[in-house]
Amino acid sequence: MGRSSMFVAALALSATLAAAMKSPSSRLSESAQNLFDYSMSVSDSRYDASYNFIWYQDNGPWSTRFTAWYLPGLLYRAEGDDVKNAIASIEGILATQMLADYNSPWYGTYKLSPDAPDPTPDSPLYPPSIYDTYDPNWREFIGSQLIQVVEEFSGKIGPELVGRIEDSLEAAAVGGMRRNGTFPEDDNLILAYSNPGLMRALTTGWAGKRKNNQNLVDFAQKQGEDLLALFQRGGQDVMGEYNAPNYYGVDIWALAANAKYGPKDLPMTNNSRRMLQGLWDDIAHQYNPFLGNMVGPYDRAYSRDATTHSQIISLFWWGVFGREYGPQPPLGEADLLYDVAQGAAFALVMDVVAERVSDEAAALLTAKGWWDGERFMNKTVYGDLASDRHRVATSWLSAGLMAGGQTVTGETKNRGDQFVPAIVHWASDPKHTPFPYNGFFSLYPSATTIRAEAGPGYLTVTYPNTTQAGADIFTFALSGIPPSWTLGNAHVINGFDDLPCLDVNVSAPGLTPMPVTYGKQLRNHWFYNISYAVPADFQGTPQVHFDLAYTC
Ligand SMILES: *[C@@H]1O[C@H](CO)[C@@H](O)[C@H](O)[C@H]1NC(C)=O
Ligand SMILES: *[C@@H]1O[C@H](CO)[C@@H](O)[C@H](O)[C@H]1NC(C)=O
Ligand SMILES: *[C@@H]1O[C@H](CO)[C@@H](O)[C@H](O)[C@H]1NC(C)=O
Ligand SMILES: *[C@@H]1O[C@H](CO)[C@@H](O)[C@H](O)[C@H]1NC(C)=O
Ligand SMILES: *[C@@H]1O[C@H](CO)[C@@H](O)[C@H](O)[C@H]1NC(C)=O
Ligand SMILES: *[C@@H]1O[C@H](CO)[C@@H](O)[C@H](O)[C@H]1NC(C)=O
Repeated sequence: MGRSSMFVAALALSATLAAAMKSPSSRLSESAQNLFDYSMSVSDSRYDASYNFIWYQDNGPWSTRFTAWYLPGLLYRAEGDDVKNAIASIEGILATQMLADYNSPWYGTYKLSPDAPDPTPDSPLYPPSIYDTYDPNWREFIGSQLIQVVEEFSGKIGPELVGRIEDSLEAAAVGGMRRNGTFPEDDNLILAYSNPGLMRALTTGWAGKRKNNQNLVDFAQKQGEDLLALFQRGGQDVMGEYNAPNYYGVDIWALAANAKYGPKDLPMTNNSRRMLQGLWDDIAHQYNPFLGNMVGPYDRAYSRDATTHSQIISLFWWGVFGREYGPQPPLGEADLLYDVAQGAAFALVMDVVAERVSDEAAALLTAKGWWDGERFMNKTVYGDLASDRHRVATSWLSAGLMAGGQTVTGETKNRGDQFVPAIVHWASDPKHTPFPYNGFFSLYPSATTIRAEAGPGYLTVTYPNTTQAGADIFTFALSGIPPSWTLGNAHVINGFDDLPCLDVNVSAPGLTPMPVTYGKQLRNHWFYNISYAVPADFQGTPQVHFDLAYTC
């Protein structure tokens, strides 16, 4: 054999070897590859190759979670030092797992940043504080990520490290399985807290099977059944964490990872496919292709405008259809630089995701521009399987204007500023591209018990329980006014009566309009504060009602 034919033979042999070692996701679609590449360019640019962690000034100097999200990218790309770095990063991540105190609420979760101390219940050094000094959900975020790493790349990291990942995941699953919404202290992982719940069904089932831990397997079995039952309750096909444009992205990851990597004989592995399809159907109906936003109300939202700020769900439009579809914020947008850290991991499950988008949903999701007609939706969202307690979400969409409202009663704890129980979106500048500039105003949820209902051209908000804190004011955060409207004092925003492209009639009987203020941010959105105070001697149920018409 001459040199060149030997070379060809060697190439052929390595190609065969490579084929034998191929991961389940050996070929990405063009869109998934594009998302993958952008995610990797962002993560590459902030990787600390000395310590093998991603720099990110968020919960410390480095981010354990961003580092975990980078692993599948390194292992899939596998160029230069990639595999070596991935192995060192896995070692680093495993070393952050907190195992010192078996009975603590943080047992088995991973440190936010590798340099942080363990929480200190007995000293002021770093007192335990859920979602602050420790994050119990990182068992699931990092755990589900390590499962993908093992299922796709065990050949590249070797059996010894796989064994240690299995041990780590078992400890994480044992800690995670204890959580039931009231235990341990400050816990909130009820069945309706969808995103960690869906990931936990995978981490407990996978670790249980690998470690032969029947308690974990039984737990995963029950959770898999209950999560589907809650989704399907009342024929609604909705997540308990309903209409959360950011966390819907995490839900899709969790469902796809369950479907692709979950043990074949556990219910969630199969149920996930069904839920994925139902979730996409719901998203497709909520999506307004002209405005480039899903209609409210949102159980949880950071950004209220997907065309200017990242929502994780948009990464799936990108990976399934291509970045020219769906709402995509500018590539350098700060929230996108956060969310896209998970893009490489998403890219590797994009095949399973794409397979569960029905043709009808795909048509709605890839539509563009103005559309005629209108749509109304009314969904009932349950929080558990036993009680009749529920919330009602109503939404009305037309191309240029849409509104959503939620009725939430019987609660005593305020859901905070991620909760968007009432919101109106409209095209405040229809000439802006690629989407109209979105104007919107949302109820700032000062009150806990709220009845909000949206319908054709209207939104009504009432506070039925005036004894609760915050029921003394209705604050609407108005955002998204195009510069041309206010520059040169052409218009001064002083309420709802002089807005671009929107005619609003407000009725707030017996309430006192407060002076409008500007200059604060609500979750990255600069807003006008338009408030109506409820006088101390007010009798009855205070209400603000909007009649709305799009005028451009
Ligand atoms: C949660 O777990 C704790 C401790 O095991 C238990 O006392 C409590 O009854 C559980 N609560 C629910 C709602 O299951
Ligand atoms: C998967 O789910 C479908 C419908 O939800 C059901 O018909 C089928 O029997 C399930 N398969 C397994 C293996 O559980
Ligand atoms: C929405 O559905 C709920 C529950 O069925 C019902 O009580 C309510 O009247 C409906 N709202 C609208 C506006 O159709
Ligand atoms: C109103 O809110 C208070 C304080 O949270 C609560 O004690 C009371 O039960 C609520 N009333 C109704 C009718 O829900
Ligand atoms: C909005 O303005 C009202 C009235 O001035 C004020 O009480 C309230 O704190 C403001 N809300 C926010 C979120 O800034
Ligand atoms: C607001 O009220 C004015 C005067 O009654 C009316 O002409 C207009 O159509 C109303 N606009 C909406 C959106 O209802």
